[in-house]
Amino acid sequence: MFIIAPLCVSMISGCEKKAEVTGVTEKIGIIGAIDEEVASLKREVQMPTVTNMGGMEFCEGTLDGKNVVIVKCGVGKVNAGTCAQLLINVFGATSIINTGVAGSLNNDINIGDFVISTDAVQYDYDVSPLGFKRGEFYETGESSLPADESMRKRAVEAVKTCAPEVGVFEGRICTGDQFVSTAEQKNSITGEFGGMCCEMEGGAIAQICCNNNVPFVIIRAIADKADGSASVDYTQFEHDAAERCAAVTRYMLSH
Ligand code: ADE
Repeated sequence: MFIIAPLCVSMISGCEKKAEVTGVTEKIGIIGAIDEEVASLKREVQMPTVTNMGGMEFCEGTLDGKNVVIVKCGVGKVNAGTCAQLLINVFGATSIINTGVAGSLNNDINIGDFVISTDAVQYDYDVSPLGFKRGEFYETGESSLPADESMRKRAVEAVKTCAPEVGVFEGRICTGDQFVSTAEQKNSITGEFGGMCCEMEGGAIAQICCNNNVPFVIIRAIADKADGSASVDYTQFEHDAAERCAAVTRYMLSH
């Protein structure tokens, strides 16, 4: 079903600020929250070096000739943010791809389809009693964390090429420490933030990347509709969706 083919890479530009990182060895950090999202990638790493830190296992090496560090961060924003900062500070990641599954927030986006981040928000960040809108950060007053343009385009291309049978949508990813499984939760998120899918890590990784001026993209395959059927659908479709995501990530690395 997936065609995993050869390479080429030109990451770097990011969080809308960074241009070329000259004189710095490119190293791509790849984060998934659960095993299925990274296992197939980890298996293919050449000359792997494994380091345990912060309760996570960082697998460093080369994949399709690229320097990569692949890690399962665990579920949720704290795990994801910690992981991203370690990738940048300790492992020298120059760009980060977050790959994994998500719940759809849009009726047009079905199980199996992909969402590529234009930006991410943290819908559960809330200092509204202090005069901010929900999701707006106290430090900046901004809620939107923009993804890197060139990584986005390459991710869309990767889905179109290696998973042409499914839809690919570019839009906002809504992150929070909740598994969204009711129409009420879903409407509350979309009413305030719009957004195409919900998950539990991307917005935290995005925040760390923006803080550190490191380009990122979030690649998500839909496993459920984030409504009353979500927990059943998630259980059924999570494995396939996660593996498809890993395949798209691999294709993106190698082109
Ligand atoms: N990841 C996959 N489905 C999800 C949902 N419905 N809510 C939050 N994270 C998810």
